[in-house]
This record gives sequence, C-alpha cells and structure tokens, in this order.
Amino acid sequence: MPIKVNLASSDPLSIAVDVVVIGVPEGASTGEGVLARLVAALGESVTHQVKRDDFTGKRDQSIDFATHGALKPGRVLLLGLGSGKVTDVECRLLAAKGARFANGVRAESVAVVVPPGVERAERAAAEGLVLGAYRFTRYFTGDRLPKVELSRGTVVIEGKVGKVGKAARDAVALGQQVGEAICVARDLVNEPPNEVYPEALARVAVDVGKQHQLKVTVLDKAALTKRGMKLIMAVGQGSAREPRLVHMVYAPPGKPKGKLVFVGKGLTFDSGGLCIKPAPGMEEMKGDMGGAANVIALMAAVAAAKPNVEVHGVIGAAENMPDGAAYRPGDIFGSLDGRTVEIINTDAEGRLVLADCLAYARALKPDLIVDNATLTGACVVALGPTVSGFFSNREELAERLRSAAKAAGESMWQLPLIEELRDGLKSDWADIKHTADRWGGAITAALFLREFVGDVPWVHVDIAGPSMANKPYGIFSKGGTGHGVLTFLRLIEGFTG
Ligand code: BES
Ligand code: MN
Ligand code: ZN
Repeated sequence: MPIKVNLASSDPLSIAVDVVVIGVPEGASTGEGVLARLVAALGESVTHQVKRDDFTGKRDQSIDFATHGALKPGRVLLLGLGSGKVTDVECRLLAAKGARFANGVRAESVAVVVPPGVERAERAAAEGLVLGAYRFTRYFTGDRLPKVELSRGTVVIEGKVGKVGKAARDAVALGQQVGEAICVARDLVNEPPNEVYPEALARVAVDVGKQHQLKVTVLDKAALTKRGMKLIMAVGQGSAREPRLVHMVYAPPGKPKGKLVFVGKGLTFDSGGLCIKPAPGMEEMKGDMGGAANVIALMAAVAAAKPNVEVHGVIGAAENMPDGAAYRPGDIFGSLDGRTVEIINTDAEGRLVLADCLAYARALKPDLIVDNATLTGACVVALGPTVSGFFSNREELAERLRSAAKAAGESMWQLPLIEELRDGLKSDWADIKHTADRWGGAITAALFLREFVGDVPWVHVDIAGPSMANKPYGIFSKGGTGHGVLTFLRLIEGFTG
C-alpha cells in the first residue's frame, strides 16, 4: 500500500508522528526559531550537536534529533533550505528527503512542514512524500522484506491551529495522485523484462485507462501489419514477444484548449539485436521502456489533474532480440510515413520504433508532439546521468519546455539540431538510413526523428541518463525515476493554446 497523505494545520513540534521534517533557512542559530525550541525541550545536547555538525541551514545540510519522549514527534529532522527563494520545488524535495529518511529509520509516519505563502506548496509536498516513501520490494522474500511500512504522511501548514480549507485538502489529494502516478512509471522500469514485455506493458496501460476513465486502444501484430507500421515490426521481429502500439486518450469535460500528443519509447528489453551489446550492464536495458512508462504515468496524472486540454499518449512497445528472424544491418524497410529506411546498426532501434509512432501521432493533427525516450548513450556522454537533452523544431516551444522543466524542478538542457549532420543520414540504397557516424550521436538521432514529424511543432526529450538512477538523489529513488513526468504535466497544465 502506498503512503496515505493528509493535511493538518498545527504546531509541528506537537504532532504525534515518528518523524517530523522541518526546513530551516540559512543563517539559523540555536538562539531562535525551531532550534531554540529544541534546545528548550531537549537540553544543551542540541547546541553541541548543532555546533559539531556546523548546521546553519545551508542547502542540503541536515541534522536530526531523537526526542526521547520530551516532544510529541519521535524524531525531528531539520533540512537546510539555503538562502534562495523557497518554491514548491523545494517543498517537494524537502518532503521526499524527509520520507526517505523516515524509511531509513523504520518510521510508520512522517510529517513535513510547508513554509507559509509558497504557491502550490501543499500539492508539491504531498508529491514529495509519496516519491520519497517509494521502494520497489516486489521480488523480496523473507529477511529482504522491509519490517515496517511508512504508511502515513502529513503535510503540515505551520501557524495557528485551525480549519484547513478545501482547496488545500484537494491540492494534497491531487499531489498524492500525481506522486502515485509517477510511482507507476518507476515500477514499470524496475520490473524485470521477463515480466514486462510488450503485451504486458500494453495491459498495464489498459488497466490504468480503466482506473481513470481513459480511452485506450492497443494495436497488436496483425493491426500493426495492416496499418503498415513496418519499422516497429522490424525491431520486434527477432523476439518471441510480439510488439504493440498503445494509444491512450484523455478528453476534458469542456471544450479543449488544444490537442497534445506524448510519445514514449517502449523497448521492454534492448539487447542490441544482432549488433548485440556487451554483457556488462546489459541488465539495465530492462529500463529501455522508461519513455513509455512516463507516458502511462503522465496519462494517470492528467486524469487526476483534469486540465482543459485533450491529451493523447502513444507508446511503441517492442523487444529487441538477436534471433534467426531478427532484422539485420543492410535490411531496408518501409514505414508508416511511407519512406524507406536502410538499417545500419540494429542497436539504434529506438528511433525506428519512434519514427512509426511519430507518423501515427502526426496523423492525429495535434497542436504539438512531445516524444521522450531512453534514446542515446551519446546524450549521457554530453550531459551526464542526471540531465535530459531536448530538441525542438520551434524555438518558442523549446522555451516553453525549458520553463516547464525549471518549474517542475527537473534538469533538462536544450541541444541543437545541427543541420550539417543531416548529411550523415543519406543512404545509397534507401530514402534514408537511421544512423550516422558516432560523433553527435544524440543529435543525429533527433535529426532522424525530425524526418517523421513533418511541420507539427515537436519536442524530443532524450531521457537516457536520468530515466534510471544508480543511487537515490533529489526526489528520485534508485532505479526507475519517472524523470520527465512532472515537466510534461507542467507543460500541459500551462498550455493556453
Ligand atoms: N537504449 C539505448 C540507449 C541507452 C544507452 C539508454 C544507455 C540508456 C543508457 C539505445 O537503443 C542504443 O543502443 N543506442 C545506441 C545508438 C547507436 C548504435 C547509434 C547508443 O547510444 O550507443
Ligand atoms: Mn539500442
Ligand atoms: Zn534502446
């Protein structure tokens, strides 16, 4: 069961919880504020500990105190807020770090205090509590199972004890739903590839659709063949697990302000195919459906947030395997778009699946298309493992994505569509080939995708780095992160036509 989050207005040091989390602005001292109250209640040991750790509220500093019954909370965790402006991003982070700490000390309940006057703070704190409490324990047995579950979270509005408004309560409820939606993406990435294969991924999308009253259509092998989605079929043809295309739709109650399509790469396992990957690290390619997982999560979050925009989710799901039936370097395939593609490297499969998905998305005549994919190692080389690279065929749209990412607290950096590199995709034998040489690999992948969106405003987000984390950081847990969902949700909620 996920953590259940509620809202309270009270004095944080008077709540009966295992852990209470309080953000402290830079420049804190034991002479004032929460630290002074802790000294008064717990004695001079607090002063010693603060001095020893040199805790002054600098960003990322933390200090915790056990209260041994002297105060209602079992422990008090103070986290440095630094000297910058506190926004909802900091509230989400505070809550996530607090919940992660609470998990670490085997707490059952955690409360996080949101500073007064911060816009969207309650929702973000609820999101953070759910994201920080997240653990993937499905395949543990016996001793490996956690002994205690963090089952209760509270967002505390500091100040006079009083009635909390309906708006704030709704915000917390929505935050919980958004947090849980992101955990769906994390689960899908963390699940092993023998459990999550294309058909299983499609089934999850159908289930999520049922829970949230979304229309979901699944195209199986016969339907993909009939429509001429030859590139998805090519990538999947070496696997015993057949490919799928999933189309999810959220239609708002009123007249929509626009139509947006989100596309996700759903390689449930990427062995590289005949151009097989080296064994070390190959197991990480169970997460090559992170883009698709994000789309499913986003659709669930959108259904909860109910923006006045029509939102479509399109997922290309396939497994890339070497086999007697596998596609080969040198093969030439048609595509849904109509153009022919020469295959060079079977490990550059993601862009082929996306090409058919983008052609499908374009036929929906949307106002914009956003695709996201664990597409290239080159993007991770360029930006490191915590930042997504994004490309757009409209500068104005790139600007909107940049500010959505900033507002969501996710790291995304724009990369250029360098026209000179387009030459590298010229083929002697077909209309186009799908890879160029290794230099600028993230860019040539984006240039290939651009061929299939026509004139539609489009953003491509390469999430190869941050889709999975090798250790917990920020709001993210180890393994699948769901990085991207908050940015896309923000883009949708801010869409004005
Ligand atoms: N799924 C991989 C990209 C990837 C690498 C994601 C590392 C996450 C972490 C993709 O399908 C791939 O193999 N790309 C190749 C392309 C190359 C063959 C042109 C790459 O990046 O090496
Ligand atoms: Mn690959
Ligand atoms: Zn891949």
